[in-house]
Amino acid sequence: MPFVNIKKQYLAFGMLVFVVLFLFNSRPAIQCQFTPEVSTYVPTIYGITPTYARLAQKADLTRLSQTLMLVKNFHWIVIEDSETKTSLVENLLKESTLKYTHLNVKTHKSKHSTVMDVNICVFKTETITTSWYCASGVEQRNVALNWLRGHLKDSDDKRGAVYFMDDDNTYSLKVFDEMRKIKKVGVWPVGIVGGMRVEMPLVTDGKVSGFNAVWKPFRPFPIDMAGFAINATLFLLHPEAKFSRKVQSGFQESEILKYVATKDDLEPLAENCTKVYVWHTRTQKPSILNPKKLKHPPLPDDHIEV
Ligand code: UGA
Ligand code: MN
Repeated sequence: MPFVNIKKQYLAFGMLVFVVLFLFNSRPAIQCQFTPEVSTYVPTIYGITPTYARLAQKADLTRLSQTLMLVKNFHWIVIEDSETKTSLVENLLKESTLKYTHLNVKTHKSKHSTVMDVNICVFKTETITTSWYCASGVEQRNVALNWLRGHLKDSDDKRGAVYFMDDDNTYSLKVFDEMRKIKKVGVWPVGIVGGMRVEMPLVTDGKVSGFNAVWKPFRPFPIDMAGFAINATLFLLHPEAKFSRKVQSGFQESEILKYVATKDDLEPLAENCTKVYVWHTRTQKPSILNPKKLKHPPLPDDHIEV
């Protein structure tokens, strides 16, 4: 019988440890019941990202989507520049934990120069390089804005911030915290853009008094797409607001902003525009060796998605 007694003691001790551990683990839940209820409303951020097929696409989208997974209440609108949706983008979105909308529209670029192309493609001078340049993402962002208007009309919550995001930029989580504060249009500096270390609005007494841009400083809003976000409700108040192919290069930002704000409406964020929370990074085009030209060609790898 002493053997049975010992076992009972062990059993009792084990149960005691279990109860203590259980109570310890449940402590936050128990405490929560006594925490006064505070407002937890976080405005939705609608990120609008055009994207197109290229070798570094999956790498760029992986990096971006995994940043976005860390952002609270974020809705990603991804618009493929293609006739049909691709399985690469579809699977990447499905495998993410993101709330997303997947759309597509193909940009129709004419092979031959037409009057319209002359309008689309104008000379762009950057500090080091000079190149012919056509605006990208115009049709894709407009399709996204139309989707957003329909979505907001059907939603009880029409609030939120709209941010136009290139798929190859670098975003700090801090930039998303900033844009939740906006009333109309929030602005902030963008790193490594327009031939400058940082392109930014200039702020005097808490108001935007000018811009430091050197590339086309005569633009009505000389800022990059990554440097502002717009209150979503304004797209319902201005159903005509959209991007246009009819404006010259570098004027897409001014084009959309002209519908929703004047310079006086701009709200300087990121500590009065003194901090950089987004960078206009650009992924270098990879150069791949032609297997046919190699003496010892590598094994075929077409079956692997890169
Ligand atoms: C700059 C601005 O940061 C962009 O917001 C603006 O759209 C672009 O110029 C422009 O006006 O063309 P940049 O780095 O030169 O950016 O442009 P990309 O990153 O190559 O393209 C902007 C977005 O459009 C990207 O998300 C990209 O994936 C997409 N894109 C690009 C397409 O959907 N189709 C294309 O043929 C090219
Ligand atoms: Mn880019």
